[in-house]
Amino acid sequence: MGKSMEWNYLVEKALQAREFAYVPYSGFHVGAAVLTPDGEIFTGCNVENASYGAAICAERTAIVKAVSAGQNTITAIAIASDSEDLTFPCGICRQVIAEFAVNGIRLICANRNGDYKEYSMNDILPNAFTKDALIKA
Ligand code: THU
Repeated sequence: MGKSMEWNYLVEKALQAREFAYVPYSGFHVGAAVLTPDGEIFTGCNVENASYGAAICAERTAIVKAVSAGQNTITAIAIASDSEDLTFPCGICRQVIAEFAVNGIRLICANRNGDYKEYSMNDILPNAFTKDALIKA
C-alpha cells in the first residue's frame, strides 16, 4: 500500500472512531487511529467525565488500547474531529505519543472531510522530555 493510501485509510479509521465519543460536556467528537509496526490498527475516541479533568482524549484511548494489547510502539497516528480545521493532539497527548513513538513516526492531523497534513514528532513536540533524560540523570 502506498503511503498516501495508507494515511487515507488511517484517517478514515480515525473519523469512524468518533462515533463512540462520549462527549456530554463538550459535544466535541474526536477520533484517533494508531498504526503499529506489524500493521495493526487501534482506534479510540474521547471519553469525558462529570469531573471534567478526568476526560481522556481519543489519542490516549487508542494508545492505551494498543499498549494493553502488547503493542508498545507506534509508527503513525491519525487524529480527526468534527472540525473543518485540522485537529492537533493536545499537550498531554503529545507527551504520551512521544513515549511510544518509533523514530520517524508520522502524525496525520485531519479535518472532518478527511483532508490531512503530515507532521513529525519534532514538529509538534521539539526537545521532548523522554526516558533518555531519566537514564542520564
Ligand atoms: N480532545 C481529544 O480527544 N484530543 C485532543 O487532542 C484535543 C481534545 C477532547 C478532550 C475533550 O473531550 C474534548 O476534546 C474537548 O477538549
